[in-house]
Amino acid sequence: MKGNSYFARKLHSLLGIIPLGGFIVVHGMANYQAFERGPEGFAKGVGLINGLPLLPLLEVVMIYLPLLFHGIYGLYVAYQSNSNTGRFKYGRNWAFTAQRITGVITFVFVFWHVYQTRLQVYMGKITHEELGSTMHHIASSPVFFALYVIGVLAAVFHFSNGLWAFLISWGITIGPKAQRVSSYICMGVFVIVSALFILSLVAFRGDEFNEVASAAIALLGNIG
Ligand code: HEM
Repeated sequence: MKGNSYFARKLHSLLGIIPLGGFIVVHGMANYQAFERGPEGFAKGVGLINGLPLLPLLEVVMIYLPLLFHGIYGLYVAYQSNSNTGRFKYGRNWAFTAQRITGVITFVFVFWHVYQTRLQVYMGKITHEELGSTMHHIASSPVFFALYVIGVLAAVFHFSNGLWAFLISWGITIGPKAQRVSSYICMGVFVIVSALFILSLVAFRGDEFNEVASAAIALLGNIG
């Protein structure tokens, strides 16, 4: 029983970084194309991802199953051990609590967000080409914009702070100095990856994302 729980904890910790952490970074960079290169750059990125062979299988194995295990087991661990007295110095206690709170926010945000984007494509309500305008409508609503900023900051904090803890629990940063240096690096990761997402949200507010979708729909209508 003990062995099982050790294995489950290690798997939980590993999945948070590979593949989920890797996914957050790549997703942030892909979205940032909206800021850097506008609607065409973003559409190219979406097209590239959607052109991958066996995409639904890749999504299930690399995103949805790890996300379900990491999320559900994470909630179970958080529920089981409510106190961390003595585990960390006082200064890290707030981060330990924040890790749990942001985990719950991220879990809820991701399901809602996937419903608003990816599932709409799978349900045939929008095409990949219209994702830019879908994001335009989301980011143009002040309420959704604020909820997205909260969801993004929670997810990126959860990943960056989780990375710091991962490096300790896998014996990579052992001494206090190594842990201090890694805390600066993880803070840098938090700032850079958050900026990628937030700048893309700001870019999606631009009218050009709506216009491109209307033009694509008109063109398809003409061809059809
Ligand atoms: C500015 C913030 C964000 C924007 C603009 C954004 C945009 C998008 C878009 C357009 C899609 C659909 C992609 C496609 O169908 O090709 C998508 C899917 C997805 N997003 Fe986000 N996203 C943001 C933040 C996040 C965050 C913080 C997470 C947390 C991990 C996340 C997790 C996901 C997941 C899991 C999918 C489904 C991926 C798949 O099935 O291939 N997103 N997002």
